[in-house]
Amino acid sequence: MRIEPLNDTIGASVSDISPADLTEAEVAGVLLDALERFGVLAFRGLFISDEQQVAFSRHLGEVEILPVPGLEHREIFTVSLDPEKALSAEYLKGTFHWHIDGATDDIPNKATMLNALEVSASGGETQFCNTYAAWEALPEDQKTRCADLRVLHSFATAQRRVYPDPSEDQVEFWEQRPSKVQPLAWTHRSGRTSLVLGATASHVIDMNPDESAELIEHLEDWTTDERFRYQHSWETGDLVLWDNRGTMHRALPYAADSGRLMHRTTIVGDEPFA
Ligand code: SIN
Repeated sequence: MRIEPLNDTIGASVSDISPADLTEAEVAGVLLDALERFGVLAFRGLFISDEQQVAFSRHLGEVEILPVPGLEHREIFTVSLDPEKALSAEYLKGTFHWHIDGATDDIPNKATMLNALEVSASGGETQFCNTYAAWEALPEDQKTRCADLRVLHSFATAQRRVYPDPSEDQVEFWEQRPSKVQPLAWTHRSGRTSLVLGATASHVIDMNPDESAELIEHLEDWTTDERFRYQHSWETGDLVLWDNRGTMHRALPYAADSGRLMHRTTIVGDEPFA
């Protein structure tokens, strides 16, 4: 197996490995170390089956089970904007905005994996940014300013970016999902610090609204800058695994009828925001 950095701050390509190799427990430790170091691991043209994807995911940690009876693989979430193919097609437009999966939970997901079954002829690339590298490069005075700040995150804030004029029913549904106050700068058990931002970030607690909006916008622009970013342009059969705790991601827009179809597995987190 070869692991080669894709640039200076985020992403590595993994090659010389087969889907069957990934179902062996031995490789998981090496790949988890690489994930911590590079944030994103891209396997080109892997063509992994659903069974192999689930087996590989299980070696990386506990795999999220979908609360939907009757599915062949309850670990596999279908990512598609086509409502005939995906139960959550309506909400997936939210993935066009930078986000951290589980930002409104106590414990965010550890890692996520996307397997490209069909790709879009235009758009649909996935971008990732390294929120550790963005924090590390932040000027010292800004680190001091941010160190103890806390931010309210909510599902409604993220959905409002997609549907700026929601119906009452939409708002009522969004607000059933609890919001959560998270630290702006998260110091992990490893001792590394990352920024916690994304589409769910509503406002900084105890800060006037204009100042809060300005700070969140500035930090989002900083963190998602090209120097902290990797863009994956998908080809059928690619698999990408990312560290959800030290990155943000978004899909570039694609059409609902583009055919783009991904199978996603999620590794459950074990470290609360702190
Ligand atoms: C996601 O945000 O989980 C999906 C990203 C993508 O479809 O590229």
